[in-house]
Amino acid sequence: MDLSSARSEVKQILLRVRPAELQELLKWIRTSDELDDFLSDNKTKILQNISDDLRARLPLDAMLASETAAHGKMSQCSRPTVHVDGFLYDEDLVDSLCEEGTMSRSYCLNCGSTRTAPLDFISHSFSIPELRFLFENVLPDLSGRLLVDVGSRLGAVLYGGHVFSSASQLVGVELSEEFVKLQRDIIQRYTLTDRIQVIHSDVCQQNVLLQNADVLIMNNVFEFFMEPSQQVTAWRFIRENFRKKGSLLVTVPSLQESLNPLQQEVLPLGWVEELPVDYDGFVGGDTDTDALTQIHLYRVM
Ligand SMILES: C[S@@+](CC[C@H](N)C(=O)[O-])C[C@H]1O[C@@H](n2cnc3c(N)ncnc32)[C@H](O)[C@@H]1O
Repeated sequence: MDLSSARSEVKQILLRVRPAELQELLKWIRTSDELDDFLSDNKTKILQNISDDLRARLPLDAMLASETAAHGKMSQCSRPTVHVDGFLYDEDLVDSLCEEGTMSRSYCLNCGSTRTAPLDFISHSFSIPELRFLFENVLPDLSGRLLVDVGSRLGAVLYGGHVFSSASQLVGVELSEEFVKLQRDIIQRYTLTDRIQVIHSDVCQQNVLLQNADVLIMNNVFEFFMEPSQQVTAWRFIRENFRKKGSLLVTVPSLQESLNPLQQEVLPLGWVEELPVDYDGFVGGDTDTDALTQIHLYRVM
């Protein structure tokens, strides 16, 4: 049913209610927990609709042919690794695609034999449960705050921030022009333009944006997409410009893990302090707890 039919049906129902009970019904609509649950499910439903839409427009691995660095890095992983985008494919969908033979969780050790080993899956986007955890459990109330997602790719963080948070502005910065077009199209189509904006740029050109940001999200931004020397330059740029005292930085994986393979002096101690995250307090169905524990929160000192 479309929006205008739904509206007129709701009005019809209200007109049929006994006048003496109408106020009681309206109060129930405004305050009932039952509808709270419905509304919160509806937030997930919006994200699922966007995910369905994007899935139909992208190849199975949701990667672009132009992402040569990322393709190259994945082929250098110590074990065979495939990209399964967590925003587009949840566990149930992966299971059903494996059952029909479109996707595989394993690879053949001796071609033609039944000897197989599990493939490693990596995701270049947050899944919907991870987004809920991020906005409802990790970050505080974001009313009046500017959130910047560095490397916004399909836009998962921006859409998640729109439905699960009150951030006043959600800005994505993305290198790939194709992904920028895709995000802008989704933002228009789902009327999210009031709070979301996407900038086509290298984050290292965005000093003013970083200086104004209250929250910075960095989900595996550089590891697969830049050479180590470029990563060092980019981290230095982030540290020099994202400096507002008390602003929050979310990283996946931890800063330690991202920076260990690079030069240690990239991040002198004292720039940020790590804040505790309650990974156990999330009631998110069959969410992968290991994925949640990769999410780290820091505060700029
Ligand atoms: C792993 S994805 C992150 C996706 C998204 N933030 C999320 O959490 O769902 C990393 C993205 O960062 C982009 N990227 C890499 N280096 C960048 C840079 N220097 N400036 C802007 N975007 C960059 C890549 O093109 C890629 O789409």
